[in-house]
Amino acid sequence: MEEAKGSPSGSLSTVVLDVDDLTAVIADVGLDAFMDQLIEELGREIGAFDPARVEHQIRSGFNYDTPEHGLVEWMPTMVAGDVVSVKTVGYHPSNPEQRRLPSVLATTALYDTTTGSLTAICEATLLTALRTGAASAVVTNVSTGPGPLVLGVVGCGAQAVTQIHALSRVRTIDRLIVTDTNPNVARSLADRLPEGLPTPQVVDSSEFNKTVGWMDVICTCTSVPIGDGAVVDLSRARPGLHINAVGADFPGKTELPIDYLRAATVIPDVLDQCLIEGESQRLDRSELGPSMVDVLSGAAVPLVGAQTVFDSTGWSYEDLLAARLFRTHAVRLGLGTTVDLQRSPVDPYDPYESLRGTTAALRSTENSALARGFG
Ligand SMILES: NC(=O)c1ccc[n+]([C@@H]2O[C@H](COP(=O)([O-])OP(=O)(O)OC[C@H]3O[C@@H](n4cnc5c(N)ncnc54)[C@H](O)[C@@H]3O)[C@@H](O)[C@H]2O)c1
Repeated sequence: MEEAKGSPSGSLSTVVLDVDDLTAVIADVGLDAFMDQLIEELGREIGAFDPARVEHQIRSGFNYDTPEHGLVEWMPTMVAGDVVSVKTVGYHPSNPEQRRLPSVLATTALYDTTTGSLTAICEATLLTALRTGAASAVVTNVSTGPGPLVLGVVGCGAQAVTQIHALSRVRTIDRLIVTDTNPNVARSLADRLPEGLPTPQVVDSSEFNKTVGWMDVICTCTSVPIGDGAVVDLSRARPGLHINAVGADFPGKTELPIDYLRAATVIPDVLDQCLIEGESQRLDRSELGPSMVDVLSGAAVPLVGAQTVFDSTGWSYEDLLAARLFRTHAVRLGLGTTVDLQRSPVDPYDPYESLRGTTAALRSTENSALARGFG
């Protein structure tokens, strides 16, 4: 997987794959095809997940209330003998309204496990949205029947776009009913969706709750504040409803009514992470259903017809797989900017090697700050 190993001469270049590179990849592959590849990749690799080969840790980080509520977290995964991936992600729900920035901002760093060198830094804001949509699509695919569906979406921000797009790649969406506490965001959703998708029917929260009984799938992807859930009334839910619960990813922040959650089959993406910050944080471990790995590997009994909830908190392995797909295409297309972030001295025992020519020159200059520093 990790093709950019340090060369015998000690070269340690890092490739930066930025927004323009991802744009170029998607322009070449096509947005639908890129999403399809991501769905296929996640379905295959997570279905074949082997903990002896892939080691991951639940995310950790800093959360704070100054100047406003936000967090910066890191999400590590290692494919043994190959690559370590660390996504760093910020979540600042006031960003869109206050700063015209996305709530979620992310980058992924890839490290080679032979040398420890940083081989790539990748844009991961769009990649996160794409992989979060793809994760919902693969679980929806095994939790619902094959027919067209009525999709409800609560929260019409950035993640809503990729949830709807990804689901449209595995099912025909007959009807799309959406709601958001910010009516401007709900109304603008139609302009942010790829072409060919049904026009969203924008309703207020109470109207949404009345129509829940028509829905086959619901995606909740809100920035609801801690303690303010539930974001939907599911008392009219039909027997086979599948929910992709995407927004709960912080202690105290949940989207679904607890009674519904207790009665449903809850599919955690990362069990220990879900118990801390997902919908599952209000459940006991014994109340959880099969994991995402179980349902994709076929280890779990079929779930079609049951009321299912995918507790999507975001898995660092998904980020590694998304970054790998991005980089594979970037390498094929010759994209990326190579930077020299790490020194590759001829003599690996000489950390001053790269300074030597410069300091020699500077030593003759009495006023040189660098020369004084070394004097
Ligand atoms: N599971 C994952 O892997 C994953 C990945 C990325 C983001 N997320 C989470 O998904 C959530 C949405 O992210 P985003 O990037 O779309 O944020 P965003 O800010 O772009 O959109 C969130 C929307 O939710 C709306 N909202 C807030 N409270 C609501 C409520 N009670 N009812 C209806 N709408 C409500 C807001 O008005 C906003 O339009 C965040 O909590 C984020 O942390 C999860």
